Amino acid sequence: MLTKIAVFVSGGGTNLQALIDAQKAGLIKSGRIKLVISSSPKAYALERAKKAKIPAVVVSKKQLGSQEAFEEEIKRLLTDNKIDLIVLAGFMSILSENFTKDYPKRIINVHPSLIPSFCGKGFYGLKVHEAALAYGVKVTGATVHFVNEIPDGGEIIMQKAVAIREDDTAETLQKRVMRLAEWKILPASVEKVSYEIKKNR
Ligand code: GAR
Repeated sequence: MLTKIAVFVSGGGTNLQALIDAQKAGLIKSGRIKLVISSSPKAYALERAKKAKIPAVVVSKKQLGSQEAFEEEIKRLLTDNKIDLIVLAGFMSILSENFTKDYPKRIINVHPSLIPSFCGKGFYGLKVHEAALAYGVKVTGATVHFVNEIPDGGEIIMQKAVAIREDDTAETLQKRVMRLAEWKILPASVEKVSYEIKKNR
């Protein structure tokens, strides 16, 4: 049986698109994306899911009123859809330890730096690239890792380095890290973990 995957998103969803494309191309063959969960009703990722005919739902913390209710609703959706693997692909809501402890080695995240640089609380999206440029590092990249109770602290699955250019802005760097690193190592990691789950079932 193929590993059932849920992808969590909040914004543009280019990483979700990379996963959809990898599935279509047969690069992801041990799992299937069964559900997309968005923390925001405005996320363009919802359009991408719709186009690919993947069921997508919005789970809004604001509407549900608390972190607890938010996580309970997500858990219900995961159970109802028999999800085996959760992929955080630009998901900007924090998941508490109360949530992550129920899915050991079943949640993976893509982060736009070489962990342990520029990661943890407060480092997300463009801020990560702004910090890398401000520090003056010459090499950055992306990391895919398992999610545990420590923000960006779980076991590393894959990393890919990207050189920084003299004329980079946070925006140009973000785009290049996505294209050269994230969109490659996220699908590859999803296949790797899906295969492991399928094999050990
Ligand atoms: C990606 O660069 C992803 O690595 C980052 O947000 C962007 C989402 O883009 N995630 C984090 O910073 C998590 N800490 P996308 O919606 O186009 O995939």
